[in-house]
Amino acid sequence: LKIALICGGISPEREVSLASGKKITQALRQRGHTVAVIDPAAGHDQPDEDELFSFSIKSEPPSKNGIRSEGSRKYLDAVNIAVPDDTEAVFIALHGTWGEDGRIQALLEFRGIPYTGSGVLASALAMDKIVTKKLFHDAGVPTPVWTSIAVADPDINALKGRINEKFGYPAVVKPPDQGSTVGLTIVSNESDLEHAVDVAFRFSGNVLVESYIPGRELTVSILEGRALPIIEIRPKQGFYDYHNKYTPGRTDYLVPAPVDEEFGKRLQAIAVHAFSVLGCKGFGRVDFRYNDAGQVFCLEVNTIPGMTDTSLVPKAALADGISYEDLCERIVLDSLSCK
Ligand SMILES: Nc1ncnc2c1ncn2[C@@H]1O[C@H](COP(=O)(O)OP(=O)(O)O)[C@@H](O)[C@H]1O
Ligand SMILES: [Mg+2]
Repeated sequence: LKIALICGGISPEREVSLASGKKITQALRQRGHTVAVIDPAAGHDQPDEDELFSFSIKSEPPSKNGIRSEGSRKYLDAVNIAVPDDTEAVFIALHGTWGEDGRIQALLEFRGIPYTGSGVLASALAMDKIVTKKLFHDAGVPTPVWTSIAVADPDINALKGRINEKFGYPAVVKPPDQGSTVGLTIVSNESDLEHAVDVAFRFSGNVLVESYIPGRELTVSILEGRALPIIEIRPKQGFYDYHNKYTPGRTDYLVPAPVDEEFGKRLQAIAVHAFSVLGCKGFGRVDFRYNDAGQVFCLEVNTIPGMTDTSLVPKAALADGISYEDLCERIVLDSLSCK
């Protein structure tokens, strides 16, 4: 197949995306496909591929200052001009804003080229954790109790009142439309709340505050609409933040997760349900917390999960006997069959 692989971009997760893109490119070429690598941040004038891929993921998360906020207009030229006319499928390996949120998907709809993963609406819904939680609530998908605050109405005292009334501390403060734990703080008491909200506001006009769920962390990968083996995530120190996500050796991954069979099947069913409630397609990953009382809580659905060396979907696929190359190829083939 003639495939265009889109990676990089201008979101805070640019480096993660490049790391995913580099691996996927190698895998698809190894399978004999032709791959044109496109960085949407570069517009029609694409960089040399070796140059684009010569970087390493820094172990610290990007600060707001480190984010390229201009350049989204280049995406138009990249999709319209740099993606070759004879492209049969586009592999979108972008994470976060402009890439995972339905916007690049919409541009590809204009081009009429099939692309991997979820469509425009499902991508946009899943990118917004507040909207996601409202839909989960309606559909009976368990999710931590929450409230939110908007930059347009930043009444911190009213927020404190809602938190105390609904769930108390510890609480988790996060921008609803970022990934990779960017801008997220676990707050142990009210005095730390305001700072955490300010940090999250650097990344988003809305801030989600959630009840902290103690216990274990489980994630369910989805391929072709089917749940893959569950992974338990055990950071050696602290929680699953940017550092623990992308620095090899800092987190233990247990695949398949040591949970009893019946619970595992139930969790996989909840994951598939959560995925379909948002209308997601192709592949993805659904994140959960699991407390000591045996309750599970869905945190979010990732419509373009990481495909880096430390990423979870490739680990889950491998536990199901699917190699990295097979996984990438199946994601592309699925995009041809379901759109
Ligand atoms: N309500 C919560 N209770 C406990 N831990 C949480 C909660 N929300 C987030 N976390 C921790 O923060 C990590 C990132 O949160 P998540 O909502 O999945 O956002 P993202 O992965 O998009 O940054 C989770 O993997 C988990 O370790
Ligand atoms: Mg997550």
